[in-house]
Parts: sequence; C-alpha cells; structure tokens
Amino acid sequence: MKAIESLKAANREEERLIGELDPHRLPRHIAVIMDGNGRWAQRRHLPRIAGHRAGVAAAREIIETCARMKKINALTLYAFSVENWRRPKTEVDFLMRLLREYLRKELPVIHKNNIRLLVIGRPDQIPDAVSKDIDRAMRTTAENTGMKLVVALNYGARAELVDAFNRILEHIRHNGASQEPVDEQTISENLYTAGLPDPDLLIRTSGEMRVSNFLLWQIAYAEIYVTETLWPDFNRARLFEALIDFQKRERRYGGLSAAPAEEDVPQAVEAGAQGRARH
Ligand code: FPP
Repeated sequence: MKAIESLKAANREEERLIGELDPHRLPRHIAVIMDGNGRWAQRRHLPRIAGHRAGVAAAREIIETCARMKKINALTLYAFSVENWRRPKTEVDFLMRLLREYLRKELPVIHKNNIRLLVIGRPDQIPDAVSKDIDRAMRTTAENTGMKLVVALNYGARAELVDAFNRILEHIRHNGASQEPVDEQTISENLYTAGLPDPDLLIRTSGEMRVSNFLLWQIAYAEIYVTETLWPDFNRARLFEALIDFQKRERRYGGLSAAPAEEDVPQAVEAGAQGRARH
C-alpha cells in the first residue's frame, strides 16, 4: 500500500481516483509524448511560448507525483525531438531557455526527491549552455536511488537505432566479430536507454494516434494511452486516470494469459550503462 499512501489527494476527484488505483500494479516505466502546448495557448489567444511555459508546470506536477509513487522506476518525457529543429528559431531558443530555467530552478527539488536525471538523445546541436546545465544536473543526481527522470532531448528513435548499430560495429572493429550473432539484448544494451526497463505505458496527450519516432524499439510491448487532454491540462487526476486504464488492460506479451513470469517479460537488462544515457 505504501506506494499510494505517499500521495495526498488535493480534492475529491483525486481522492476517488487514488482509491481506484492498485498500488501493486503500477507501471515500472512510463513514457510520455507531451503534445498540445501550442493548441492550449491558441485556445486562450496566447503566444505558443505561453503553452510551453504551462507545459513545464504540468511536467513538474507529473514528475513529482510519479516520484512519490515509489514503485515507478522511470519516467521518460519527450521534450525535444530531432524534428523539432524545424520550428521557428525563436520557439527553439525559447524551449532551450525553458529547459535551462527548469533545470536551474528544479534541481534542488529533484535532488531532494532522490530523483536521478538522465538525458537521452544526440548531444550534438544542443547549445553549450544547455549541455553544461544538463551535465551539472546529471552529476548532482548521479547517486540518487529513486525514480529516474529521463528527458529525451534532440531525440529520435531511428537516430537512436542508427547510433546503436554503429556502436556495435565500432565494438566489432576494435575487438573482432564474436562467434555469437547479434541478439535483442545486444541491441537493447546499445540504445541510449540501456539499463532502463522498457516502458510499460506510453501516454500521448492531445489526441494524435502516432508514436512520432519515440522509443520505437522499447515500446514493443507497451500499453498505449492516448487522451484528448492537452499537455498543459494533464494534471495528477489525468495521470491517475491513465494508470487506472493501464491497470484494466490484460498484458499478454504475445502469449495467452496475463501476468507472465518476471523472466518472460521482454525488457532491457537492469544492469548496465544508465550513466551512458547521454552519450
Ligand atoms: C508539444 O507541444 C510539446 C513540445 C514540443 C515539448 C516541449 C515540452 C515542454 C515545454 C514540457 C517541459 C518538459 C520538461 C522536461 C521540463 P506542441 O508545441 O507540439 O503543441 P501543438 O501540437 O499543439 O502545436
């Protein structure tokens, strides 16, 4: 029960939803495509950047709530994709500034909550000032043992797979080919997410039925939850609804019955290079 006791309901709706949650069946890893900041702002006749600012506030609430639930090992947020560079420079610059501001302001809170920050994606193209703040936050939280907060920044799943294959090739160039063929575990271990369990639940806000080049390998068995709620409106209650929906699903992993033995669940091995998440 501990996982849920640590959540204090702020209102009747949250109280009801927390009551419906099964603390023993929480996802170990939640991945989120945070979409709809622009539309949220547009509906309010505000500039898009106001939507992104509200998006950060939503992210803060979801991060803290997931960390408090204890059983959730990892939360991965899609903050900036390799395709997002196509947006107007002013918006890209604002998103980078916002990320720095978030890291600077929230680092003490993240650290206090025993959260470990990891960043996945290609480090090139990221402005130096942002990289410095990321490195500092990752170093500060490196020994934390609670939830891993994984920020996908300049991330693309196909780029990740290309990088993984090139890492494997590089290894072969240095050490010679092994007698063993490349298997799923080798590929998982060479992804940015090496060492993290695969997401059990993928949440996408604002209604689009797409996975948008996000964690394509890792979501092979994830339950997908799409909500019409725009990201800035995705609060604790909406998260609880997503978790309750997840708990109603029967997860079969291609087999016939639910609840597979732990060793049958396909996922990246736990040991390994979590610190390499940003390579
Ligand atoms: C999508 O809205 C959201 C993004 C491009 C990502 C930005 C995310 C944040 C600012 C949240 C903060 C994250 C962290 C890690 C603190 P959109 O602009 O695509 O919306 P639209 O589809 O309505 O135009």
